[in-house]
Amino acid sequence: MKKTISHTSEIQSFDSVSELPPQFQDLITKAESALKSSYSPYSGFSVGSALLLKNGEVILGSNQENIAYPSGLCAERVAIFSAGTNFSEEEIETIAIVAKSIHGEVTNPVTPCGACRQVMIEIESSQTNPITVIMHGSSGTVWVSKSVGDLIPFYFSSPHVGRAK
Ligand code: THU
Repeated sequence: MKKTISHTSEIQSFDSVSELPPQFQDLITKAESALKSSYSPYSGFSVGSALLLKNGEVILGSNQENIAYPSGLCAERVAIFSAGTNFSEEEIETIAIVAKSIHGEVTNPVTPCGACRQVMIEIESSQTNPITVIMHGSSGTVWVSKSVGDLIPFYFSSPHVGRAK
């Protein structure tokens, strides 16, 4: 029998950073501070991310490129893997993502790539609470998603892929 399985996502859109609650503005400022460590000579597109952990710690990440292009890593995964290394027991509450480009103002919110979403959903699924994702460029609109699940419906997960015991 044919069935339709549907998913509805919601994103809150704000016209500018100043409309956000102060704690979200603060995390965006921290993500912006990560932009200066971005190594992005190939794309000219710098991305900064800031993770707020449950214990209040903030972990920064920036995109790190390489001449062998696929060897680089996005800002989000740099921060997430750093948190996994240094604060393995702490839940992630919020992630803020910002960007700047040598080609001009980034006025559209930067949404995480598919690979980062897949990494984020595995963490979210293992936590008690969902992760809030704040997406911004360098000016203008800010998007806020209340969970990673809204950004990656039908993600890969399988009971047939075993976890190491
Ligand atoms: N990038 C990120 O770091 N995060 C994203 O969400 C999108 C893309 C990086 C990868 C590459 O270094 C540059 O931005 C251009 O794609």
